Amino acid sequence: MFSKELEIARKAALEAGKVLEGLFGHLKKIEKKGEIDLVTEADLQSEKTIVDLIKTHFPQDSILTEEGSGQSRDSDRIWIIDPLDGTTNFAHSFPFFAISIGLEIKKEMVLGVVFNPHMNEFFEAVRTQGAFLNQKPIRVSNCAGLQDALVATGFPYDIHHHSKELMTRFEKVMTRVQGVRRPGAASIDLCYVAAGRLDGFWEEKLKPWDTAAGSLIVQEAGGQVGNFQGQPYSPYHPSIIAGNPAIYEALVRLLGS
Ligand code: IPD
Ligand code: CA
Ligand code: CA
Repeated sequence: MFSKELEIARKAALEAGKVLEGLFGHLKKIEKKGEIDLVTEADLQSEKTIVDLIKTHFPQDSILTEEGSGQSRDSDRIWIIDPLDGTTNFAHSFPFFAISIGLEIKKEMVLGVVFNPHMNEFFEAVRTQGAFLNQKPIRVSNCAGLQDALVATGFPYDIHHHSKELMTRFEKVMTRVQGVRRPGAASIDLCYVAAGRLDGFWEEKLKPWDTAAGSLIVQEAGGQVGNFQGQPYSPYHPSIIAGNPAIYEALVRLLGS
Protein backbone atom coordinates (compact mmCIF):
# COMPACT_ATOMS: atom_id res chain seq x y z
CA MET A 1 0.00 0.00 0.00
CA PHE A 2 1.15 3.54 -0.82
CA SER A 3 4.29 2.36 -2.61
CA LYS A 4 4.07 5.08 -5.30
CA GLU A 5 3.46 7.74 -2.63
CA LEU A 6 6.43 6.48 -0.60
CA GLU A 7 8.66 6.42 -3.66
CA ILE A 8 7.81 10.04 -4.50
CA ALA A 9 8.06 11.23 -0.89
CA ARG A 10 11.52 9.62 -0.62
CA LYS A 11 12.63 11.16 -3.90
CA ALA A 12 11.34 14.60 -2.91
CA ALA A 13 13.07 14.48 0.49
CA LEU A 14 16.37 13.31 -1.03
CA GLU A 15 16.30 16.02 -3.71
CA ALA A 16 15.39 18.69 -1.17
CA GLY A 17 18.20 17.36 1.02
CA LYS A 18 20.68 18.09 -1.76
CA VAL A 19 19.31 21.63 -2.02
CA LEU A 20 19.70 22.18 1.74
CA GLU A 21 23.18 20.71 1.91
CA GLY A 22 24.24 22.92 -1.00
CA LEU A 23 23.13 26.03 0.86
CA PHE A 24 24.25 25.00 4.36
CA GLY A 25 26.82 27.49 5.58
CA HIS A 26 26.38 29.66 2.46
CA LEU A 27 23.05 31.42 3.01
CA LYS A 28 22.76 34.80 1.35
CA LYS A 29 19.19 35.69 2.17
CA ILE A 30 17.74 35.50 5.69
CA GLU A 31 14.46 37.34 6.23
CA LYS A 32 12.19 37.68 9.24
CA LYS A 33 8.57 36.49 9.11
CA GLY A 34 8.17 37.61 12.71
CA GLU A 35 10.36 38.91 15.51
CA ILE A 36 12.44 35.70 15.71
CA ASP A 37 10.83 33.60 12.97
CA LEU A 38 13.09 33.30 9.91
CA VAL A 39 12.69 32.35 6.28
CA THR A 40 15.67 31.81 4.00
CA GLU A 41 16.30 30.88 0.37
CA ALA A 42 16.85 27.33 1.65
CA ASP A 43 13.25 27.07 2.93
CA LEU A 44 11.91 28.38 -0.39
CA GLN A 45 14.10 26.35 -2.74
CA SER A 46 13.55 23.16 -0.76
CA GLU A 47 9.79 23.73 -0.80
CA LYS A 48 9.76 24.31 -4.57
CA THR A 49 11.69 21.07 -5.16
CA ILE A 50 9.22 19.04 -3.11
CA VAL A 51 6.03 20.71 -4.30
CA ASP A 52 6.99 20.48 -8.00
CA LEU A 53 7.54 16.75 -7.69
CA ILE A 54 4.35 16.05 -5.77
CA LYS A 55 2.25 18.21 -8.08
CA THR A 56 3.63 16.33 -11.09
CA HIS A 57 2.84 12.90 -9.71
CA PHE A 58 -0.32 13.65 -7.71
CA PRO A 59 -1.99 16.66 -9.39
CA GLN A 60 -5.35 16.01 -7.72
CA ASP A 61 -4.01 16.02 -4.14
CA SER A 62 -4.03 19.00 -1.79
CA ILE A 63 -0.65 20.22 -0.59
CA LEU A 64 -0.21 22.16 2.67
CA THR A 65 3.23 23.70 3.15
CA GLU A 66 4.86 26.07 5.61
CA GLU A 67 5.90 28.62 3.00
CA GLY A 68 2.55 28.57 1.24
CA SER A 69 3.35 27.30 -2.26
CA GLY A 70 1.06 24.28 -2.03
CA GLN A 71 -2.30 23.78 -3.67
CA SER A 72 -5.86 23.37 -2.50
CA ARG A 73 -7.91 20.63 -4.18
CA ASP A 74 -11.26 19.08 -3.44
CA SER A 75 -9.53 15.97 -2.13
CA ASP A 76 -9.32 14.02 1.11
CA ARG A 77 -5.61 13.47 0.43
CA ILE A 78 -3.38 16.20 1.89
CA TRP A 79 0.42 16.29 1.69
CA ILE A 80 1.73 18.19 4.73
CA ILE A 81 5.23 19.55 4.19
CA ASP A 82 7.93 21.35 6.14
CA PRO A 83 10.68 22.02 3.59
CA LEU A 84 13.17 22.97 6.32
CA ASP A 85 12.42 22.11 9.91
CA GLY A 86 15.02 23.81 12.07
CA THR A 87 15.42 27.06 10.13
CA THR A 88 16.99 28.89 13.08
CA ASN A 89 19.58 26.12 13.41
CA PHE A 90 20.21 26.22 9.66
CA ALA A 91 20.65 30.01 9.61
CA HIS A 92 23.31 29.69 12.33
CA SER A 93 25.09 26.77 10.63
CA PHE A 94 24.03 24.57 13.56
CA PRO A 95 23.80 21.20 11.81
CA PHE A 96 20.46 19.89 13.02
CA PHE A 97 17.58 20.26 10.55
CA ALA A 98 15.32 18.14 8.37
CA ILE A 99 12.76 17.90 5.61
CA SER A 100 9.41 16.57 6.74
CA ILE A 101 6.76 15.18 4.38
CA GLY A 102 3.53 13.56 5.56
CA LEU A 103 0.43 12.32 3.76
CA GLU A 104 -2.94 12.57 5.47
CA ILE A 105 -5.90 10.69 3.98
CA LYS A 106 -9.42 11.06 5.40
CA LYS A 107 -8.01 12.77 8.49
CA GLU A 108 -5.51 10.01 9.23
CA MET A 109 -1.73 10.20 8.73
CA VAL A 110 -0.81 7.28 6.46
CA LEU A 111 2.77 8.08 5.46
CA GLY A 112 5.65 10.11 6.86
CA VAL A 113 9.26 10.72 5.90
CA VAL A 114 11.76 12.87 7.81
CA PHE A 115 15.22 13.30 6.32
CA ASN A 116 18.18 14.87 8.11
CA PRO A 117 20.55 15.31 5.16
CA HIS A 118 23.49 16.50 7.23
CA MET A 119 23.61 13.29 9.24
CA ASN A 120 22.28 11.21 6.36
CA GLU A 121 19.47 9.84 8.51
CA PHE A 122 16.25 8.95 6.71
CA PHE A 123 13.27 8.11 8.92
CA GLU A 124 10.06 6.78 7.38
CA ALA A 125 6.81 5.03 8.16
CA VAL A 126 3.68 3.86 6.36
CA ARG A 127 0.66 3.13 8.54
CA THR A 128 0.67 -0.53 9.82
CA GLN A 129 4.05 -1.22 8.19
CA GLY A 130 6.45 -0.16 10.97
CA ALA A 131 8.99 2.64 11.28
CA PHE A 132 12.48 2.67 9.81
CA LEU A 133 15.75 4.57 10.02
CA ASN A 134 17.87 4.08 6.89
CA GLN A 135 15.75 0.99 6.08
CA LYS A 136 16.29 -0.63 9.50
CA PRO A 137 13.31 -1.08 11.87
CA ILE A 138 13.23 1.22 14.90
CA ARG A 139 11.38 0.97 18.24
CA VAL A 140 10.70 3.38 21.07
CA SER A 141 12.69 2.95 24.29
CA ASN A 142 11.52 0.89 27.23
CA CYS A 143 12.30 3.58 29.81
CA ALA A 144 9.68 3.07 32.53
CA GLY A 145 9.62 6.30 34.50
CA LEU A 146 10.28 10.02 34.23
CA GLN A 147 13.21 9.86 36.65
CA ASP A 148 15.15 7.83 34.06
CA ALA A 149 13.88 9.69 31.00
CA LEU A 150 15.68 11.92 28.51
CA VAL A 151 13.04 14.15 26.94
CA ALA A 152 12.98 17.04 24.48
CA THR A 153 10.87 20.11 23.88
CA GLY A 154 10.83 23.29 21.83
CA PHE A 155 9.70 26.88 22.19
CA PRO A 156 7.24 28.83 20.04
CA TYR A 157 8.14 31.99 18.13
CA ASP A 158 6.02 34.17 20.46
CA ILE A 159 8.01 33.08 23.54
CA HIS A 160 9.34 36.59 24.17
CA HIS A 161 5.81 37.71 24.97
CA HIS A 162 4.13 34.57 26.37
CA SER A 163 6.64 32.69 28.45
CA LYS A 164 5.06 32.42 31.89
CA GLU A 165 2.76 29.38 31.59
CA LEU A 166 5.19 27.71 29.24
CA MET A 167 8.03 28.03 31.73
CA THR A 168 5.80 26.65 34.50
CA ARG A 169 5.20 23.54 32.39
CA PHE A 170 8.91 23.38 31.49
CA GLU A 171 9.87 23.47 35.16
CA LYS A 172 7.35 20.75 36.01
CA VAL A 173 9.02 18.39 33.55
CA MET A 174 12.61 19.54 34.08
CA THR A 175 12.46 18.89 37.82
CA ARG A 176 11.26 15.30 37.35
CA VAL A 177 13.31 13.88 34.47
CA GLN A 178 16.93 12.86 33.96
CA GLY A 179 17.48 15.46 31.25
CA VAL A 180 15.75 17.88 28.88
CA ARG A 181 17.02 18.81 25.41
CA ARG A 182 15.92 21.56 23.00
CA PRO A 183 17.40 20.42 19.70
CA GLY A 184 15.44 22.83 17.45
CA ALA A 185 13.67 20.64 14.90
CA ALA A 186 10.40 19.11 16.10
CA SER A 187 10.24 16.56 13.28
CA ILE A 188 13.62 15.11 14.32
CA ASP A 189 12.71 15.24 18.01
CA LEU A 190 9.75 12.97 17.18
CA CYS A 191 11.95 10.61 15.14
CA TYR A 192 14.40 10.42 18.05
CA VAL A 193 11.52 9.30 20.26
CA ALA A 194 10.70 6.68 17.61
CA ALA A 195 14.32 5.48 17.57
CA GLY A 196 14.55 5.30 21.38
CA ARG A 197 17.17 8.08 21.58
CA LEU A 198 14.65 10.18 23.48
CA ASP A 199 11.98 8.77 25.78
CA GLY A 200 9.49 11.60 25.30
CA PHE A 201 8.77 14.96 23.68
CA TRP A 202 6.33 17.78 24.28
CA GLU A 203 5.73 21.16 22.70
CA GLU A 204 2.96 23.72 22.27
CA LYS A 205 1.92 26.02 19.42
CA LEU A 206 3.24 23.76 16.71
CA LYS A 207 1.99 23.75 13.12
CA PRO A 208 0.74 20.73 11.14
CA TRP A 209 3.96 20.46 9.11
CA ASP A 210 6.14 20.27 12.25
CA THR A 211 4.57 17.03 13.45
CA ALA A 212 2.56 15.34 10.64
CA ALA A 213 5.28 12.93 9.48
CA GLY A 214 7.02 12.44 12.83
CA SER A 215 3.83 11.57 14.69
CA LEU A 216 3.21 8.55 12.45
CA ILE A 217 6.85 7.48 12.73
CA VAL A 218 6.51 7.48 16.55
CA GLN A 219 3.26 5.48 16.43
CA GLU A 220 4.66 2.96 13.99
CA ALA A 221 7.69 2.51 16.29
CA GLY A 222 5.35 1.52 19.14
CA GLY A 223 5.01 4.94 20.77
CA GLN A 224 2.02 7.09 21.59
CA VAL A 225 1.17 10.61 20.44
CA GLY A 226 -1.57 12.96 21.60
CA ASN A 227 -2.17 16.45 22.91
CA PHE A 228 -1.71 17.86 26.43
CA GLN A 229 -5.16 16.52 27.35
CA GLY A 230 -4.24 13.01 26.22
CA GLN A 231 -6.60 13.16 23.23
CA PRO A 232 -5.59 11.42 19.99
CA TYR A 233 -3.06 13.21 17.79
CA SER A 234 -4.22 15.62 15.13
CA PRO A 235 -1.78 17.65 13.03
CA TYR A 236 -4.12 20.62 13.46
CA HIS A 237 -3.94 20.65 17.27
CA PRO A 238 -1.12 22.95 18.44
CA SER A 239 0.08 20.95 21.45
CA ILE A 240 1.75 17.56 21.32
CA ILE A 241 3.06 14.91 23.67
CA ALA A 242 4.89 11.87 22.32
CA GLY A 243 6.72 9.08 24.02
CA ASN A 244 7.01 5.43 24.69
CA PRO A 245 3.72 4.34 26.31
CA ALA A 246 4.93 4.82 29.92
CA ILE A 247 6.52 8.23 29.36
CA TYR A 248 3.60 9.40 27.22
CA GLU A 249 1.18 8.61 30.09
CA ALA A 250 3.46 10.28 32.63
CA LEU A 251 3.78 13.46 30.53
CA VAL A 252 0.01 13.65 29.97
CA ARG A 253 -0.54 13.39 33.73
CA LEU A 254 2.00 16.14 34.33
CA LEU A 255 1.13 18.58 31.54
CA GLY A 256 -2.62 17.96 31.40
CA SER A 257 -3.08 18.92 35.03
C1 IPD B 1 10.42 25.01 14.35
C2 IPD B 1 11.21 23.84 14.89
C3 IPD B 1 11.47 24.02 16.38
C4 IPD B 1 10.21 24.23 17.15
C5 IPD B 1 9.42 25.38 16.57
C6 IPD B 1 9.14 25.13 15.09
P1 IPD B 1 10.84 25.75 11.80
O1 IPD B 1 10.15 24.84 12.97
O2 IPD B 1 10.53 22.62 14.68
O3 IPD B 1 12.12 22.90 16.94
O4 IPD B 1 10.52 24.47 18.48
O5 IPD B 1 8.23 25.47 17.30
O6 IPD B 1 8.38 26.17 14.57
O7 IPD B 1 10.31 27.13 11.94
O8 IPD B 1 12.30 25.64 11.99
O9 IPD B 1 10.34 25.05 10.58
CA1 CA C 1 8.96 23.42 11.45
CA1 CA D 1 10.12 25.19 8.40
